[in-house]
Amino acid sequence: MSKPYTEICKSAKYKLTGNGDRRIELLIESFEHMDLSMDADMYGTGSIINDFEEELAQLLGKEKAVFFPSGTMTQQIALRIWSDEKESKKVAYHPLCHLEIHEKDGLKMLHHMESILLGREDRLFNIEDLISVAAPIACLLVELPQREIGGQLPAWDELVELAQFCKEKGIKLHLDGARLFEVLPYYNKSASDLCGLFDSVYVSFYKGLGGIAGAMLAGSAGFVEQSKVWKRRHGGDLISLYPYIINARYSMNKRMGNMKAYWQHALSVAEGLNKIEGIRTIPDVPVCNMFHAYFDASKETMENIFASIIEKYNLCLIGNIKAIDGLSCKSEFTFGDSFSLLPPGLLEDALNHLESEIKKRQV
Ligand SMILES: Cc1ncc(COP(=O)(O)O)c(C=O)c1O
Repeated sequence: MSKPYTEICKSAKYKLTGNGDRRIELLIESFEHMDLSMDADMYGTGSIINDFEEELAQLLGKEKAVFFPSGTMTQQIALRIWSDEKESKKVAYHPLCHLEIHEKDGLKMLHHMESILLGREDRLFNIEDLISVAAPIACLLVELPQREIGGQLPAWDELVELAQFCKEKGIKLHLDGARLFEVLPYYNKSASDLCGLFDSVYVSFYKGLGGIAGAMLAGSAGFVEQSKVWKRRHGGDLISLYPYIINARYSMNKRMGNMKAYWQHALSVAEGLNKIEGIRTIPDVPVCNMFHAYFDASKETMENIFASIIEKYNLCLIGNIKAIDGLSCKSEFTFGDSFSLLPPGLLEDALNHLESEIKKRQV
């Protein structure tokens, strides 16, 4: 390859996954229909922030909600509040959840909390895993979908069982709903039905919703009031957050209703990939707009093949490929607006090309 693979991907006219390039023009687009004479929010007050918080509280079926700059800040604070209330430093969650592997131990370093890892890395945890925890825990965090294992989801009845167990044992239940709207079509439930199982809920505006950044934390009035104090302590109470808020609201209105279509795109592409020898997806049948694909070939080989597809069809099937070892690699596929821009037949042609290129290398 003449250029790094990521550069080649950028040059492709069509992209299979995502919501388009993350360009700064998105901010301008979000402001297009705004009354520009509106007052900015100030330290968490003002209609720009408070109306949006109220809207989200209603949507999620919670008493109150508060806007945060990041999910990382939001969730550490939520768990800290439950820990103080329950007088236990222990929280339980999946071994590959965001707090455990992507936050440089913020929960442990800043809040001196202890994580109890439930089940195994390669599967969802279940009620038996939770029952087997001997120590008293303050909170159970459930990430829906479990991103690092391809976006898997427990069945609705399993969630209800977990929630009932937590209620009986006095364990607080927190939802990492970074991708909350993405999972609603699978459960065929409203956001408030799903959030009703949880004491506290976080949602993100920049995953499937495609915004710039930002998060909302929702729960009881008392819980949210405490979280505002922690938001200030963490330096998250910026004098004004309106660029994020206006964009978050715009992105939510634009994409919230598309989640079922994004899921269907994931289903059809996973089906196509699973027909190719040397590729398998996890989960086999996606339950939301994402999955992980595993390739029985090195990262270099797959990048060469995907680059040849870009050259021939002007279509980037996937951008980010991670080596597992010298003979295999994997990639995360997340579906958004880009899929519907593909001209008819282009994807089928590209998948056929992918299959024949992989076959060539297998002989
Ligand atoms: C499941 C999950 N939880 C939490 C976060 C943290 O969100 P933020 O980047 O807003 O801190 C992410 C971000 O990727 C995530 O995927």
